[in-house]
Amino acid sequence: MEPIGSQEARRTGPRKRMCVVGASGKLGRYMVRHALDRGYEVVGVCREQSVGKLAEFEGRITVVPGATDDRAVVARAVEGCQAVLTVLVPWGMKRYSSGTARAVLDAAPAGARLVFSCGWHITRDGKDVYTRRLRAFVAVFGRLARLARVADLDDQVEACRQIFASDTEWTVVRGSDLEEGGSQGLPVWSRHVGDPLLASNLTRRVDFALFMVAAAEDDALVREAPAIVGRLTPSALAHARAKNTA
Ligand SMILES: NC(=O)c1ccc[n+]([C@@H]2O[C@H](COP(=O)([O-])OP(=O)(O)OC[C@H]3O[C@@H](n4cnc5c(N)ncnc54)[C@H](OP(=O)(O)O)[C@@H]3O)[C@@H](O)[C@H]2O)c1
Repeated sequence: MEPIGSQEARRTGPRKRMCVVGASGKLGRYMVRHALDRGYEVVGVCREQSVGKLAEFEGRITVVPGATDDRAVVARAVEGCQAVLTVLVPWGMKRYSSGTARAVLDAAPAGARLVFSCGWHITRDGKDVYTRRLRAFVAVFGRLARLARVADLDDQVEACRQIFASDTEWTVVRGSDLEEGGSQGLPVWSRHVGDPLLASNLTRRVDFALFMVAAAEDDALVREAPAIVGRLTPSALAHARAKNTA
């Protein structure tokens, strides 16, 4: 069977190929939509039981079913990709997050742009300043989730440690609290949580996905761990106003 996109490729030259690892979740599906809008040929990886969640894209993307921490699955999916976007989630107690990160780091083609998602609680250099509320949430959720054996936040930390130590072209996008709703445009970012720019702590999920896709095209974000916030939030607007009057 002729690969998806090959007819168009003959007309306009080869299209860039983007893999979305964890494509069936809410963030993943938004990323698939943005990638298609930007003209990418898209390959999505998701668990077998979730393939149906990608039905809206039938005929427009290639789906590779399987666990995202399965190296063989990931290797097949990332073949020929210039960019790989990965949703890192802490669910389960089987080191799914760090296994997924490892599989992507090991299998992605040399020079590919690798973009990973996580939350503000991940710190790259220890210089983030967290509110008491966020520290309490991470401590309580982390403990309860471990006790209930539903999630392991430490494994997401380990996944990011591996990424930060890698010499690949990575970006780790750290999401604030999320909400649904229409796009407000590309979120703004800072290197450190605690920057007043980020104080509103809210981003539309659709725009988190937009940032992930845009990051794959932005060399300034290579080996950065941007903490993002919605560009129309009060703290982002106040920051923009202060910059304009300076
Ligand atoms: N939710 C928030 O408020 C928030 C805040 C900041 C940052 N983030 C970050 O945003 C990203 C997306 O998070 P989200 O909350 O919006 O979730 P999401 O996009 O709905 O994605 C959840 C992902 O987890 C997978 N998943 C669910 N249960 C699983 C299990 N037991 N084992 C393995 N995989 C499982 C889902 O796969 P299936 O489709 O196969 O179920 C899906 O790919 C994550 O990197 C997260 O750290 C989230």
